[in-house]
Formats: sequence, structure tokens, C-alpha cells
Amino acid sequence: MNIIGIETSCDETSVSIVKDGFVLCNVIRTQKIHSKYGGVVPEIASRQHENHIINLINQALISTSIDKKNLDLVSVTYGPGLMGALLVGLNVAKGLAIGLNIPLLCINHLEGHMYANMIDNDNISYPFLCLLVSGGHTQIWEVSRPGIYKLHAKTIDDAAGEAFDKGARILGLKYPGGPEIDKLSKNGDVKKYNFPRPKVKQSKFDFSFSGLKTSLLYKYADLKKNGDIIRDEDLAASFQEAIIDTLIDRIIKVVKYTGIKTISIAGGVAANSRFRYKAESVLRPKDIICYFPKMEYCTDNAAMIAYTAYQKSKTNNYSALDIIPNPNLSLDYV
Ligand code: KG4
Ligand code: ZN
Repeated sequence: MNIIGIETSCDETSVSIVKDGFVLCNVIRTQKIHSKYGGVVPEIASRQHENHIINLINQALISTSIDKKNLDLVSVTYGPGLMGALLVGLNVAKGLAIGLNIPLLCINHLEGHMYANMIDNDNISYPFLCLLVSGGHTQIWEVSRPGIYKLHAKTIDDAAGEAFDKGARILGLKYPGGPEIDKLSKNGDVKKYNFPRPKVKQSKFDFSFSGLKTSLLYKYADLKKNGDIIRDEDLAASFQEAIIDTLIDRIIKVVKYTGIKTISIAGGVAANSRFRYKAESVLRPKDIICYFPKMEYCTDNAAMIAYTAYQKSKTNNYSALDIIPNPNLSLDYV
């Protein structure tokens, strides 16, 4: 079965072809233009998707030598994400489905991130916990079987990826900030500055990252005012450590509560090298096993969409052609 996947929910235009569960290609075009503005500009994102989507589809078909007549299913992200951006991908997908007379299967982007961990990895068995940690989400879900999700933890303000992006902005780094802070931190001292490990009064599982960014802002301003030598590497490393320690702390708490020791890490922040290192050095000795997606499947990509469609196509629940995007889709609405 040849499945084409289309992803246009934010600032990556991506097309993938998955054949019988194997990823044949995963072309991604990241819209660098947004770094100029310090964040994604929705209108520009939609226009960029519109400019590039057809070329990327052709690239994917040519690189896999698959004729479009041999496609069996079109899959596409229909939420969450930016409305205008989602519309571009969804309408192209509908056009392909109608033109080729094949079914359409709309995929929840968050479920795509979760399934990204299962591409080329059949070690994850149910039940497991899923830490969804991206630019818009920081949540811990219990996945008892395919499609059955129970929320245990969520952020009450900023997402972890958003904290990376806002922190990077304070340090004068470009957008997206996560990879920049990750890189800079490699030469920094994680203990040089003391940032809080934020807790939420009402819940021992929930996250709150907005105060952390304010701490960084004040720390940076204080150091400047006092004329201290500022090593951005140390600031970045100490700030990153506070985010990672908080994620690790909540994983441990939810593991204790549920008794489930298998964790699938999903979303852009899964690419963080310090997080990957600490998951191994702190969690593994506690018999908590974290699975991280391959690097190319951490941030937004269409392979995870086509692969999720492959898993879901087994039940044959295709989408109606009048489906509309849902910018606020949650993981338990699939
Ligand atoms: O999943 P994703 O590509 O898009 C959303 O669905 O939000 O995640 C993007 C987020 C951004 O906030 C970005 O800064 C963060 O993932 N990110 C990272 C790293 N790579 C991407 N955060 C920390 N370390 C990284 N290496
Ligand atoms: Zn994403």
C-alpha cells in the first residue's frame, strides 16, 4: 500500500511516501523566513506552504519513482496548528484524493508525533506513557491501547518548546530557539546559575514554564547591570537544565502514580541532546525506559503523518471530503 502524507500545520512544508509501513521518502522544507520575525507569522506560513507544496509532492514522487496513479491513500494533518497553514495541506490532499479517486485519511498532528516513535521501532508495547513536548504542547498521556488516551499532566502556561524559544530570544539567539540553546549549552556549565524548577500548586503533575523565562530575563538584566562577565553558554546551559529537570521530575511522578515505566517522547523537544542524555542517565537506572524518535522524525514531518495513516488504515475509517481543519485538536479527539 502506497500512502502519501502531507504536513503543513506550522512552518514546515513536508511530503512523505510510506510503502507498507516503510518510509520511502520524507522531504521537509523549513520556512527559514520566520527567524527574521522571532516567531512564526501565520499569513507568511500559509503563503509559503502554497508556494512549495506542489514542488515537494513532485519531488517525493520522483525520488521514489512512484507514479501518482499508484498511490492508494492520501493522508494529511488536519489539526492542531495554524488555520491558514492547515487549509493549504488539506485542500491539496482533497484535490489529490478526488483527482486520483483514492481515499483521504486526516490525521491528528499530535498523534503523528506519538506514532513517529514507532517508525522503524517495534519495541514500544502498550500500555505506555507519552510525553508530548513541542512548541505548543507539554502533556503526559497514558496510552492504554491504540487510540485510547488519558491525560495526566499539562502545562498551565507556556509549553517547554515555547520556553526554549522565548529563552533564546532573551539571549539574542534566532528562532526556533530550542536547537540554538541546545547547541550553545554544549560548552556551558549547567550549575553556574540557579534557575527555579517550577511547581504548580494545584497539581503535582502539571507544568508551568512562563516564570522560568522571566527568571532568565531578570538574571540577564542583573548581570548586565552589575557589569559581570556574561557567558551565554552558561546561562543557556543552566536555563536548559531547569527545563529538562522539570520534564524528568514529572515523568518520575507520573510513572510512580500509574506504575507504567515505558515512555514515548514525542514532539520537537525530543530532539534535545541534554534531554536524551538525562533520560538515559537519570531514568534508566530507575528502570524507566524512554523511547525517542529518530532525529528526522522529532520536529514536524510528513513521514509521521503517512505512517500514522498506515496504522489507522487497517481499520478503514477514512475521512469525508467535506472535513475542515481543527486548529485546536487535542490528542484524545482523533
Ligand atoms: O513538534 P515541533 O516541530 O512543532 C510543534 O508541533 O510545535 O516542535 C517545535 C519546538 C520548538 O519550540 C523548538 O524550539 C523545539 O521544538 N525544539 C527543540 C529542539 N529542537 C526543536 N527544543 C529543544 N532542543 C532541541 N534540540
Ligand atoms: Zn509538531
